[in-house]
Amino acid sequence: MTARLIMKLQVVSAVPTTPDVLRVVFRHPLRPELPEWSPGAHVDLRLPDGKVRQYSLCGDPDDRAHYTVAIKREVDGRGGSLWAHANLTEGGLAHVSAPRNNFPLADGTRHVFVAGGIGITPFVAMARALAAKGGDFILHFCARSAAEAPLLDALHAVCGDRLQLWFSGVGRRFEPALIGPPTPGTHLYACGPQRLVDAVQAAADAGGWAPDRVHIERFAATLDENYKPEPFDARIASTGDVLHVPADRSLLDVLRENGFRVASSCEIGTCGSCECGYRDGTVIHRDHVLPLGRRQDRMMLCVSRARVGLTLDL
Ligand code: FES
Repeated sequence: MTARLIMKLQVVSAVPTTPDVLRVVFRHPLRPELPEWSPGAHVDLRLPDGKVRQYSLCGDPDDRAHYTVAIKREVDGRGGSLWAHANLTEGGLAHVSAPRNNFPLADGTRHVFVAGGIGITPFVAMARALAAKGGDFILHFCARSAAEAPLLDALHAVCGDRLQLWFSGVGRRFEPALIGPPTPGTHLYACGPQRLVDAVQAAADAGGWAPDRVHIERFAATLDENYKPEPFDARIASTGDVLHVPADRSLLDVLRENGFRVASSCEIGTCGSCECGYRDGTVIHRDHVLPLGRRQDRMMLCVSRARVGLTLDL
């Protein structure tokens, strides 16, 4: 696991972009430049109670002085957004991590983005990067109305007529069948409410899209109700110690109980914080964040398990 730099950043501005979405710009109070990032990256916002929330960066990756995020007030959420809306005010300080990218732009010749509500945030930076180099893309943005569509001004400026707006409040709903079959070099991305990303995934499956051409960022885990966890053993590569993981405990829990300091945030397999390397084992990957190409030697400790046993790079 790689420890991430945590910085105390200053809020340059915190301005509503819709009635329930706050656009927050951070800078370092002393240093002119922040760690660089690429479109699709997120930062962790550390709350005073030690919990962590992830927010996609939605500013300009070429602007090394600032990080911009958009935070939706989730009244029924876990409390992080309510804290952010109440406490992130101009001039204030907040603990923010260096960026991490679990949702990068793929190496394709055309990009189809489907966003719902606050799920638009990673696509703002992706569209900006593609527009700057003449890349081919279309961005479908679903919201209830223009007034409830975050960052709309920035999107119009960046995307022009490559922005397709779907406002359900005026009867204009996005139809996933519009995605159709894949064309050579095209990648499909979705981020937003579960119902929308599930519909996009279903349309991609029906249209014959290869899994490595479809990129989904989820806000919540999808539960496989038929999955029955089995116990297994985890060997620690550096010491040779073997830890038993019972069926009702996660590998993350067992490591912590045995004194390992392991980073985590969501603990539902969606954020990437608890990623760890492994060797010689058959891992049952149950997360929604690790790309297919990295699953042969990396895993998420919070939700993924092993058949019989594995060796962890710890
Ligand atoms: S803690 Fe978020 S993926 Fe494991």
